[in-house]
Amino acid sequence: MPLIRFVREARDVECYPGENLREVALREGIALYGIKGVLGNCGGCGQCITCFVEVPEDTSAAALSPRTGVEDQKLRNRPPNWRLACQALVQESLVVLTRPQVGLQGKEAAFATALAEPLAAGPIAWPQPPQAGDEPDEPIASEQLAGEPEDAGYGAAPEPRASTTGD
Ligand code: FES
Repeated sequence: MPLIRFVREARDVECYPGENLREVALREGIALYGIKGVLGNCGGCGQCITCFVEVPEDTSAAALSPRTGVEDQKLRNRPPNWRLACQALVQESLVVLTRPQVGLQGKEAAFATALAEPLAAGPIAWPQPPQAGDEPDEPIASEQLAGEPEDAGYGAAPEPRASTTGD
């Protein structure tokens, strides 16, 4: 699976090929937004321009889906290696800087360090569903499920109760 190396957070996160970068970041608890985006973002519609990310300039063009028309319009005054996370689909492993608008001291060195350690190549195929003719799983014995002796199962007949009325 593609691996996203989040430089600011010093975290590697795996995702499926084609997953939306914003959704992966939010799912993993990555702080994608600055204060403006935290207070109000568009929810991934490409309208608020608060989900900026930066990728190193020599990142493969195939790592993310191509810029959308929304990005071409909204990012026209931003560096060419900035993206809107909500518009980008992850196709191959890459290095990402979240919130580039707030800066990162030693950014180039951080990128170099992040790129020095190899990333898993990605993409790999999605898991395949079982095919007709595949062997079913072995049945699990009831004693393995409950961890109790067979004669103490829930289907055992109850013990007769002693009478309290003196009959
Ligand atoms: S979340 Fe609003 S532009 Fe990406």
